[in-house]
Amino acid sequence: MKGKFITFEGIDGAGKSSHVEWLAETMRQRGVVVVVTREPGGTELGEKLRGLLLSESMHLETETLLMFAARREHLAQVIEPALKRGEWVVCDRFTDATFAYQGGGRGLDRNKLQQLEHWAHENRQPDLTLLFDLPLDVARERIALASRVLDRFEQERADFHERVRQVYLDRAKNNPSRIRVIDGQETIENIRKSLEQIISSI
Ligand code: TYD
Repeated sequence: MKGKFITFEGIDGAGKSSHVEWLAETMRQRGVVVVVTREPGGTELGEKLRGLLLSESMHLETETLLMFAARREHLAQVIEPALKRGEWVVCDRFTDATFAYQGGGRGLDRNKLQQLEHWAHENRQPDLTLLFDLPLDVARERIALASRVLDRFEQERADFHERVRQVYLDRAKNNPSRIRVIDGQETIENIRKSLEQIISSI
């Protein structure tokens, strides 16, 4: 069987992470070998870069280059080898997040992002992207309830997150066959049902 590359996306607080492991487990029960991973991160070097990215303030272009540096390593060490072995890769965030956060949230020129994307992974796109979407105030409330220390992105103001959400939704509109929007306000049970349907269709 051919490997599949599935990514999860959404604004902070959209609830995607709780579904990543569930989807992987569901597919394993069907006999698929699944690698679960995340960005930024996914390799030893990538996790170190993640630590810096989530805590240190830095120039926007530095932030963007580090996201892509971590991604390049992740593709080379983890994603491409697993797909080559015919395994599925389920990844919590990928390049759509860079367009949404560094492009939408922080305003980096989209052309620059496209050039970096081309450079870092010219021929690799997710087979499927599950975009968890919900109104910003609901997402903010969930984050507030989590009562933990917020990272550098979660600490951004509401208008930042509104722009992130908008870019995600625009990308979904422009890539309807790859990006499927999941209503993050639905019950866990209904979300799981939708995910099962979508996965069966691919
Ligand atoms: P996140 O998946 O939210 O981690 P957690 O669920 O543990 O909080 O990812 C961390 C943050 O990184 C998130 O706020 C979005 C940000 N991010 C970017 O800004 N650009 C990127 O390219 C990626 C992959 C993530």
